[in-house]
Amino acid sequence: MLEQIKETAAWIKAHTQMRPHTAIILGTGLGHLAEEIEIVDEFAYKDIPNFPVSTVEGHSGKLIFGRLGDKNVMALQGRFHYYEGYNMKQVTFPVRVMYELGIKTLFVSNAAGGMNPDFKIGDLMLITDHINFMPEHPLHGPNFPTGPRFPDMHEVYDHKLLDMARSIAKEKGIRTVEGVYLATQGPTYETPAEYKMYHTFGADAVGMSTVPEVIVAHHCGIRTFGISIITDLGIEGQIVEVSHEEVQRAANAVQPLMAEIFREMVHRID
Ligand code: HPA
Repeated sequence: MLEQIKETAAWIKAHTQMRPHTAIILGTGLGHLAEEIEIVDEFAYKDIPNFPVSTVEGHSGKLIFGRLGDKNVMALQGRFHYYEGYNMKQVTFPVRVMYELGIKTLFVSNAAGGMNPDFKIGDLMLITDHINFMPEHPLHGPNFPTGPRFPDMHEVYDHKLLDMARSIAKEKGIRTVEGVYLATQGPTYETPAEYKMYHTFGADAVGMSTVPEVIVAHHCGIRTFGISIITDLGIEGQIVEVSHEEVQRAANAVQPLMAEIFREMVHRID
């Protein structure tokens, strides 16, 4: 595994001269930010040695290197989901490669169902913490030398980055909410009873991604910031049928606002 990671990182280094410190993982239908990146090099996942290939609709599956404002960035357009059949080593493979490439800060985004009664469809939720409800742990197995066997998890979502996002949203007049993201294996959305249970657990939003990548990033010492776009509601009395198309439509409508926050944060970080 480590050999494959190093091989992939070496291939990427040989194919681009860019050496960014910041990476962005764009979730379902959240490719908008990629359009703002002045692309220097891009690689289809299928052309990168050892990279899994994305299969879900709405994910174009490419790795982008370029400039976002005045900063060099690396962006993953399309991620690998556990529900697609990948194991957690594959789901988190790109993050391991990021570490080898020298990434220090990771931005993640996803679409999620809101369970906090104060949330509305189209809200941007700054992720303050998570609950790992996936059936397989991304750090299962022999420990990687990037971090300890038993990693501390008291501040997985970097508080300084959260503060930065809060001030940017305030300055720009963008409504944000905050909360805990719970990751399920999917691919089913939740029954009303499941939404209720997850909310009782302490989660404000539920989705099918992000947590594995964030755990591995944390284990690698990469600081992380994440936003969930609330695309549907799992709140008693407000639950309606959810479809992938509806989730994408709702995400599409607000992704320019999320992009604005990410862009400004990338500009401000050192
Ligand atoms: N549940 C799980 N995943 C999701 C949801 C949801 O309600 N909305 C978008 N992704």
